[in-house]
Amino acid sequence: MLKKEYSEHNYNSISEDYSDRNSRKYNFTRICVILATAIIVAVCLFKFVNHFRIANEEESVIIAESNILSKNSLYDYNDTCAVVSDDFKFDCFPRGKSDQQSCEERNCCWAPTGNDSDSLVPWCYYPTNYNNYKVVNITQSRNGLIAYFNLSSETTYKENIKLLCMDVSYHTAQRLRIKIYDAENTRYEPPYPEIPAVHLNNSKINEPLVSDYGIVVAENQLGFAVVRKIDNVTLFDSRNVGGFIYSDQFIQISALLPTKYIYGIGEQRANLMLDMNWKIHTLFNHDSPPTDNVNGYGAHPFYLMMEKSGKSHGVFLFNSNAMDVVLQPAPAITFRTIGGILDFYYFMGPTPADVIAQYTEAIGRPYLPPYWSLGFHLCRFGQTLNQVIEVHNRTINAGIPWDTHWNDIDYMKNRNDFTLSDNFSGLPGYVEYLHKIGMHHVVILDPGVSSREPKGTYPPYDDGLKQGIFIKNATGLPLEGQVWNKDGGTVFPDFTNPKTVSYWIDQVSKYHQVVAFDGLWIDMNEPSNFVNGDWQGCIFNNSDHWENPQYVPAIEGGVLNYKTICMSAKQHSGLHYDLHNLYGFSEAITTQFALSIITSMRPLVISRSSFAGLGHFTGHWTGDVYSTWDDLKQSITDIVVFNMFGIPLVGADICGFNGNTTVELCSRWSQLGAFYPFSRNHNSDDCFDQDPVALGALVVNSARKALTIRYSLLPYLYSLFWKAQIDGETVARPLFFEYPSDENTYNIDTQFLWGPALLISPVLKENQEEVQIYLPNDTWYDYYSKIAIKSNGSTYTVAAPLDTIPLSIRGGYILPTQDPSTTTTLSRKNPFGLLIAPNVSGEAYGYLFWDDGKSLNVWENGMYNEIHFKYQSSTITAEVVTSNYLDERLVLQNITVFGIQANPTSVIVNGNAYQNFLYNKTEQALYFQTLNLDLFTVFNITWT
Ligand code: NOJ
Repeated sequence: MLKKEYSEHNYNSISEDYSDRNSRKYNFTRICVILATAIIVAVCLFKFVNHFRIANEEESVIIAESNILSKNSLYDYNDTCAVVSDDFKFDCFPRGKSDQQSCEERNCCWAPTGNDSDSLVPWCYYPTNYNNYKVVNITQSRNGLIAYFNLSSETTYKENIKLLCMDVSYHTAQRLRIKIYDAENTRYEPPYPEIPAVHLNNSKINEPLVSDYGIVVAENQLGFAVVRKIDNVTLFDSRNVGGFIYSDQFIQISALLPTKYIYGIGEQRANLMLDMNWKIHTLFNHDSPPTDNVNGYGAHPFYLMMEKSGKSHGVFLFNSNAMDVVLQPAPAITFRTIGGILDFYYFMGPTPADVIAQYTEAIGRPYLPPYWSLGFHLCRFGQTLNQVIEVHNRTINAGIPWDTHWNDIDYMKNRNDFTLSDNFSGLPGYVEYLHKIGMHHVVILDPGVSSREPKGTYPPYDDGLKQGIFIKNATGLPLEGQVWNKDGGTVFPDFTNPKTVSYWIDQVSKYHQVVAFDGLWIDMNEPSNFVNGDWQGCIFNNSDHWENPQYVPAIEGGVLNYKTICMSAKQHSGLHYDLHNLYGFSEAITTQFALSIITSMRPLVISRSSFAGLGHFTGHWTGDVYSTWDDLKQSITDIVVFNMFGIPLVGADICGFNGNTTVELCSRWSQLGAFYPFSRNHNSDDCFDQDPVALGALVVNSARKALTIRYSLLPYLYSLFWKAQIDGETVARPLFFEYPSDENTYNIDTQFLWGPALLISPVLKENQEEVQIYLPNDTWYDYYSKIAIKSNGSTYTVAAPLDTIPLSIRGGYILPTQDPSTTTTLSRKNPFGLLIAPNVSGEAYGYLFWDDGKSLNVWENGMYNEIHFKYQSSTITAEVVTSNYLDERLVLQNITVFGIQANPTSVIVNGNAYQNFLYNKTEQALYFQTLNLDLFTVFNITWT
C-alpha cells in the first residue's frame, strides 16, 4: 500500500521504493494531466461564459455586479481532479496518513506528486466539484442576504451540521460580516471582544445600504466570493475550491486570494510577509519560546493583504477555538478550526492603515497607556533584593534614562502570588523610594494560585475555593495542575466567571496595600502548566471527545492539553476547549479593571497571552526570545505585526531573555529596544547580568544615547498612542503602511517607523558599522547630521557607529519633543520643542496631544490638550484645538527647522523682531532655543 507520512507540519518523504519505481510513471502522468488540462480548460471556458450568462438571468442570487469575475475563474468551474494544478490542491487529508483507498473514501482525488521527497503538495486533495452542501433559499435583506446550506452528503468528519445559515451583513461601507452557523442548534461563540454592528445610513431606513463590497453567491454553487466593487477585484473566493466542511469538531473553509502579499495571522514566529509555500500557522495559545513552526502565546486569526494596485483589505475570523490556518501558493488560504462557528469580518481599507483602523474599530481601539510606561523598564528573573538595589544604583549613576524597575517571581514566598518572601521584606520600602524619586514599580503575577499550602495559611486559595471561582475538572472539583508554586499544586481562577472579578480585586488590592506597585505583569496565562492537563490526567467521562478530537491542529506536543489544562475543564462561560485562547485575554480584562479600581489611575498591564482585542486593555511583550542576532531582527516584525493586531504597546526583551547575550548584541539591542513602543530589558534566571552597566561602557553609551533620544521624542510617541486610541492608527508600522503603492516596501522587515515620520533603521548584524537603508520616494533628513536626502525610492548606505542607531525624519512632518531627563516624571516638566522637517514643497504638519499622563478616561472626559502645528512659506503657526488640561504650563522653547538653504535676515515672533536664532550652514538647519512661548496661545514665527 502506498503511504504518505505526516510529521509535525510537513509532509515527510515519500517512501523511497515508491518514488523510485514510479518516477517515470509520474512523468507520463504529468503529460497526460497537462493535455487533459488544456482540453478541460477550453471546455470550461465555454461553460464559464455560459455560467455567467445563466447566473445573470438568476438575478436574485447575485447581488454584486454580474460581470465580476474571479481571477481564478477558469479554475473555479472545473469539476475533475486532473485539472487541479499543484498550487490549487486543497488538502483532503490534513495531519493524517493517507493512501489511495482512504483518500477516495473521502471522495477526494489521489495523486502522489512527483518524485520530489520535499514536496509539500497534498497527495489527497479535493476535487473542484466537492459539494457536500446545497445552497438553498437565498434571500436579500436590506443589509445583505441570508442563504441556507443543506447537507447533501456526510463527510468522514463526525457530526456534520445538517443545515447552515449564511448571514451576510454590511456593517459599514467598509466592513462586511459573513456569519455561517448551525441554523438549528446554538454553538459556542466567543464572549469577547464585543463587536458592535455599525450600520450605515440608518435614516434612510427603506433604502439598501451602500457598500464598497459585493458578495457573489448562487444556488448552484457552494461558497461565496467577496468582491471590491470599484475595481472588481475578488478578495476572497471560496466558490468551488473544495473542502468546505462544517462538522461539530472540524470546520474548514478555503478561499483563493488575489495576491501573495499577506501579513498577520499570529502569534507565531514568521516573516513579516508570510510565506505562502504550504505554511501552517497554528493558533492555540501556548507557552513556548518563539520558535519556527510552533504555536505561540497568542491567537490572532486576522490577516492584512496588499493588492497589486496598492490597495489593501483585511479579514478576521472571529473564532477562539484551536485552528490551523494554511497558506498555499495558489495563492489561497484555508481556515481549519475545531469548534465554534465561521464568523468572518472583511475590512475594505483601501489603505493598510485604513484596514487596521477598521479592524480596531471592531475589536476595540488600543488603550492609552500611562505616560510613565513609555519610559525605559528594567527587569530580570533570578535576583535578590540586594541585587535589585545594586542594579538600581549603578543604572542611576550611569545617567541612563529609566522609569520603572520590575520584579519577577523571586519576590514571592514559595513562588506563590500575593506573598512576599522574607528575603524581599525590604521591597515595600524600595518601592516607596522609587516613588519618591519619580520612578515606578511593576510586579509579576501568574494566574495560577497555589493549592497545597496548609489550610488557613494562604487566603488566595482558601477564598477562591469558598467562592467557587477556580476552573473545574470534568467531575466538578478544582482542576489542579502545577506551575511555579513550590508546594506542587496550582489551581486557575476562571476569569470568565463574574465572581472572579471581585475575588481578583480583593487579592490584588490586599497585595497592593503591602507593595504599592504601579503596574502588573501577567505571565504564564496561556494558561501554562508544567503537567499536561491535571495532576490526575484528563480521564473523566467522555474526555477523549475534548482532549483528543478527530482532528488536532498542528500544535506542539500533539495533544491539546500539552503544557496547559484539560480541554474538558469547566469554566463559567463554557468548556476550556472553546475558551482556551481567551484565558489570558480574560485575565487581562479583569486585571486592568482591578487596577483601575484600586489605584483610580490608568494602569499598566502587560500580558504574555493575547487574543484579538487585547490591546483595548493592555500591552504585550513577545515572551522568552533568545539572545541572538536572529531574534534581534525578528523583533521588528513582531512589533509591527502586533501593531496590526491592535496592540501597539509591545516590545521584546531587550538583549534577549534566553541565553547569554554579548556586549555587541546587547549594545545594538539597547539601541533598537529604545524604539520599541514598550521598552524593557529583561533576562532569564540562568544568564549573567545584562542591565546596561553590567555589560560595560559600550552598552551604557548605546542605551543612554538611544534612550535620551527616546525621552526627547516621548511627546511625539504619546501623541501617536492617542491617535491609536481615537482613530486606530498604528504606533510602530512597517514602511508599506506609509508607501502602499511602492512594492519595494512590502517586504522590508529591517526598518520600521514610529507613526508616519520617524524611520528607525537599526544594525541587525554583528561587526557592522553601517547599514543599507531603503528610503521611499520623499525627502528624508538624517536625525544626527540633519542632512537631507531627496530619495526617489533607493537604498542608501548610512554610517552606524557602534553606539549609534540610524534614524531619519520624513519631510512633511513636525515632531513635538521635550528636553529629556532621566525619568518621565522629570522630563514632563521640561520645555517642549519642535522638530520641523519640510517636504519638497517646504511644508510640514504635526500635532501634540497632552494630558496629565495618568488619569482614567481623559478622552471621554475631554481633559486633554490638542495643539496642531503648521509650517509653510517660512512661517510656523499653531492652532489650539482643545485646551482642557490646564494644570501644567506648557512652554515651547526650542524649534529646529531642517532643510533651510540660507541664513534668514530677519525673524519675527508674534509680531516682534527676534534675534536669538542660529543658522548652521553645514546642517542647513535653523535653531530657535529660547522662544519661551505659551503653547496654549496661538503663535506665529516667520522669517525672510
Ligand atoms: C516566563 C516569562 O516569559 C519570563 O519573562 C519570566 O521571567 C519567567 N516566566 C519567570 O517568571
